Amino acid sequence: MHYVCARVCACVRVCVCVCVFSKKGREEGERREEGGAGGGRQRIRARETARRLYVHEGTQAVTSPPSSCQLTMASASAIVASIASKTKTKKKHFVAQNVVMWGVNHSINELSHVQIPIMLMPDDFKAYSKIKVDNHLFNKENMPSHFKFKEYCPLVFRNLRERFGIDDQDFQNSLTRSAPLNSESQGRSGARFHTSYDKRYVIKTITGEDVAEMHNILKKYHQFIVECHGNTLLPQFLGMYRLTVDGDETYMIVTRNVFSHRLSVYKKYDLKGSTVAREASDKEKAKELPTYKDNDFINDGQKIHIDDENKKMFMEKLRKDVEFLALLKLMDYSLLVGIHDVERAEQEEVESEDNEGEDDGESDGGVGTPPDSPSNTLDSAKPLSPGEFDPTIDVYAIKSNDGAPRKEVYFMAVIDILQHYDAKKKAAHAAKTVKHGAGAEISTVNPEQYSKRFHDFITTILS
Ligand SMILES: *[C@@H]1O[C@H](CO)[C@@H](O)[C@H](O)[C@H]1NC(C)=O
Repeated sequence: MHYVCARVCACVRVCVCVCVFSKKGREEGERREEGGAGGGRQRIRARETARRLYVHEGTQAVTSPPSSCQLTMASASAIVASIASKTKTKKKHFVAQNVVMWGVNHSINELSHVQIPIMLMPDDFKAYSKIKVDNHLFNKENMPSHFKFKEYCPLVFRNLRERFGIDDQDFQNSLTRSAPLNSESQGRSGARFHTSYDKRYVIKTITGEDVAEMHNILKKYHQFIVECHGNTLLPQFLGMYRLTVDGDETYMIVTRNVFSHRLSVYKKYDLKGSTVAREASDKEKAKELPTYKDNDFINDGQKIHIDDENKKMFMEKLRKDVEFLALLKLMDYSLLVGIHDVERAEQEEVESEDNEGEDDGESDGGVGTPPDSPSNTLDSAKPLSPGEFDPTIDVYAIKSNDGAPRKEVYFMAVIDILQHYDAKKKAAHAAKTVKHGAGAEISTVNPEQYSKRFHDFITTILS
């Protein structure tokens, strides 16, 4: 078997580079192939139509091996097939994780060779890069033998990362140095979450519709981020990818973690400004860190104690953000609220000194922050006293004011913004038509009303 492997590898000598550029950001881009020796080297090619054609596709493939290899190839593919079927039995998310790590690593490496353009062009918002990897017998323990990785709008997201103050090298390290933590949960949308091992970023599985919606809003979103200098409560979209393993496509988006990479959150709310069916279920409440909702917030008598200046800045940001969302006809978003209790955290840290916590399931608020000790991050370069945070990393953190009953830190940001009114209306209409017959009134609020109600409710929670 080893003998066969060696010979197969010797036959894999052909490198194929394919350039793809698509006006529509879809698969029907033009392809150019070029043969060449030296497995897996990629080229960045310039084209008249796109001045900075970063978008390209590389594939490490076996194309027409010399005839003496043919027989070996046949038996090799049988081996590959058997390995592939074994791979299938592995946990899917384990494989997906490794592919994400590989893909982000690859993407940032590639981007580091691409000049930063003076300005983004319209085509950059439709572009993508793709790579197909046929690993065959290489590193089969950790990687699927065949997979594809696609990054959407690489230059746009790189630009966004920069505007959010995220260095690409740091981003790469966070996502690839160690495997992302599984904060797996079946949320309302069945979405899955991971956080990067250092908890700075959240990797969320999204739907194909979400990807389409992102493409719809990306240009305006980018413009908005430019205008507010990255100073927003909206999700910080940092990268969007598609993985294909065994024919299964998974879409993922990376955002900055709303919660802290080191301060644990003991209470979490998802607020929409609606009181209809807005309380956590008993099942939810049984979780380690349940996601409570509007009615729970009210019934708990919960308040966010922040000083006037922070309140003013927060509300100003929120007002601009929801105006923007209403303009894009987006709705059903939430304010994610996480509360860190400084004394409680200190106590817990003492108690669980040697108690390396399990990475348990997270609930559907989305931002996994397992309440384990903050001391296990690598970033303890600057010693911070309890309740202190680095505002360039924990960008959403606000300290409680002096009059607060407990010393707390709040993390608040807008999440789940990709629900478009028309899609929602269509779905609601279909449901109501079934129930009440055609012509039944659609009673859902529109994006404008939603944003006002949301804003007004959030005003009431700050004290
Ligand atoms: C990232 O890419 C570099 C260069 O190809 C490679 O040496 C390194 O092992 C990769 N790291 C991961 C985690 O894949």
